[in-house]
Amino acid sequence: MGYRVAVIGATGNVGREMLVILEELKFPVDAIFALASRKSVGVEVNFGDKSIFCQDIEKFDFSTVDVVLMSVSGAFSKEWSPKIGKAGPIVIDNSSAWRMDPDVPLIVPEVNPDDVSYASRKNIIANPNCSTAQLVVALKPLHDRAKIKRVVVSTYQSVSGAGKEGMDELWDQTKAIYSLGPTEPKKFPKQIAFNVIPFIGAFKDDGYTDEEAKMWNETHKMIDPAIKLTVTCVRVPVFVGHSEAVNIEFENALDEDEARDLLREAPGVVVVDRRDDKGYITPKESQGEFAVYVSRIRNDPTLDHGLNMWVVSDNLRKGAALNAVQIAQLLHERGLIGQKALT
Ligand SMILES: NC(=O)c1ccc[n+]([C@@H]2O[C@H](COP(=O)([O-])OP(=O)(O)OC[C@H]3O[C@@H](n4cnc5c(N)ncnc54)[C@H](OP(=O)(O)O)[C@@H]3O)[C@@H](O)[C@H]2O)c1
Repeated sequence: MGYRVAVIGATGNVGREMLVILEELKFPVDAIFALASRKSVGVEVNFGDKSIFCQDIEKFDFSTVDVVLMSVSGAFSKEWSPKIGKAGPIVIDNSSAWRMDPDVPLIVPEVNPDDVSYASRKNIIANPNCSTAQLVVALKPLHDRAKIKRVVVSTYQSVSGAGKEGMDELWDQTKAIYSLGPTEPKKFPKQIAFNVIPFIGAFKDDGYTDEEAKMWNETHKMIDPAIKLTVTCVRVPVFVGHSEAVNIEFENALDEDEARDLLREAPGVVVVDRRDDKGYITPKESQGEFAVYVSRIRNDPTLDHGLNMWVVSDNLRKGAALNAVQIAQLLHERGLIGQKALT
């Protein structure tokens, strides 16, 4: 038996990828529906070898579907997810709207699959921020073995993390710079082509950004609130694939060899770590792949029990669409699709 699945935001970076991954993972789909904004009604998107046409969300009857994969803004999700969840289907949401709601599980299936048990409270499940998703997949097996005390992360985040407008801006600026000269930034606050921007999201009062705060808040919710995590988020002129330089301090001894072995066994992780020119992964190589790649694993001699590592993944996949479809699969395996919302 398959499910009736709706993808909201189906014309976007993440929504299109969701349609691809539903097919790639062979999620049991009986019927598929694409929804986007009013301007996209009738726009064609692909699902396997079929074309489907976007419908108007205002006219769509959500009581007729089992699963909704949503990838629009936080404001949109705040308005729509509760209504949809009450109408029947489970909503798996990619925005930041529900991640810290205590009645909404925030799930990375390799990390905290059992938290799906309370999904029926609102019939909403949140997907983490793209940078958090790949980070926690790599941290969890190390935390289970040696207890993480503190993590220092610097991110190198691709422009696709800012949606299709972000990708267009890098493309247009890169082309224009050699012909028309520099163009005015629109999506990003400064020029992104041939540059890096040490700012993503919005400033908070303490000088950090909300993107940075998402990473520690979400890590606390999914792994352990005792982990101290500090982060600098940086946008780089890469189309797809987020990278992270990660420094970890452990409570207990864990050296680079044992960490490498643990990560080799960890679900969702691929270790590529040799000390030669091909012995590490760059974002380009992560594009279109499922894995969280870990490279450059090495002891940190400035700490009693410390490691450095390099973590790379396709932000549109593990950071968003793949994780969402994996959550749907987890619900399917545990027979949790079709529950009524409790509230
Ligand atoms: N990109 C990432 O790496 C990533 C990772 C994790 C989470 N997320 C989150 O996922 C969400 C979507 O990101 P994205 O990168 O896919 O953005 P995007 O490429 O800009 O796509 C946005 C999608 O939302 C649709 N949309 C906008 N307003 C709508 C409305 N009023 N009603 C219905 N649909 C509407 C758009 O449809 P139209 O084409 O019709 O405008 C489009 O399909 C965001 O909340 C983002 O923060 C993104």
